[in-house]
Amino acid sequence: MSNQPRHIAIIMDGNGRWAEKRGKSRTAGHEQGAETVRAVTTFCARHSEIDRLSLYAFSTENWKRPKIEVEFLMKLLERYLKSERSTYLEGNIRFEPIGDLSMFSASLRKVIDDVQNATSGCSGLIQSLALNYGGRDEIVRAVNSLRENGTITVEMLGSALDCTHDIDLLIRTGGDHRLSNFLLWQAAYAELFFTDTLWPEFGADELETIIKKFKTVERRFGGLN
Ligand code: IPE
Ligand code: IPE
Ligand code: MG
Repeated sequence: MSNQPRHIAIIMDGNGRWAEKRGKSRTAGHEQGAETVRAVTTFCARHSEIDRLSLYAFSTENWKRPKIEVEFLMKLLERYLKSERSTYLEGNIRFEPIGDLSMFSASLRKVIDDVQNATSGCSGLIQSLALNYGGRDEIVRAVNSLRENGTITVEMLGSALDCTHDIDLLIRTGGDHRLSNFLLWQAAYAELFFTDTLWPEFGADELETIIKKFKTVERRFGGLN
């Protein structure tokens, strides 16, 4: 049987370069990137073999960016969640944020909570947005939550993480070949695909091509086939 892309994770990179190439501000790239989020999420929701889509939207390191860009991203996120609430519900998509949300403003947290609660009964795709997310931060928070439990096992740590599901297929757009602190634990046996396409130009067609290739890979998980 071919591989099933049950959990797809994407490092959505290249918004800034997409905009700069067009003589636009970096924020215009983020705006366009949000359109790709919608398109890719809708595509995944229509494919029953895909259960989970985890998207890297804002890293624990992205606070280093200029204040104006960070503020724009926060506003864009709030606006996106408000306007897409109906897309989630109509598409039977559950919204499940991962990351340390305590750093966000009260109003943004309220919108995040609202969409998460409103979609908690949706049984189609689970779309996980990684917000103020860092793989190391996630692991450290999980270890701290288990401090009282004595010796920690792989299973215990794995189930104390924000994201408790291994990744099948991990994609990074934008041409760089690195994880940038995304889902370090969950990517242990992920198939990695890198594309030069900038995130605003990525779409369902390219995702479909990658999934086709993914299905032909021999996944051994350390064993022999
Ligand atoms: C990814 O695009 C989106 C975020 C990190 C929020 P970038 O903003 O990193 O775009 P480039 O890599 O500078 O082109
Ligand atoms: C990774 O992209 C983070 C997100 C896509 C949210 P970056 O643009 O922040 O990564 P680096 O700095 O190139 O590694
Ligand atoms: Mg980048």
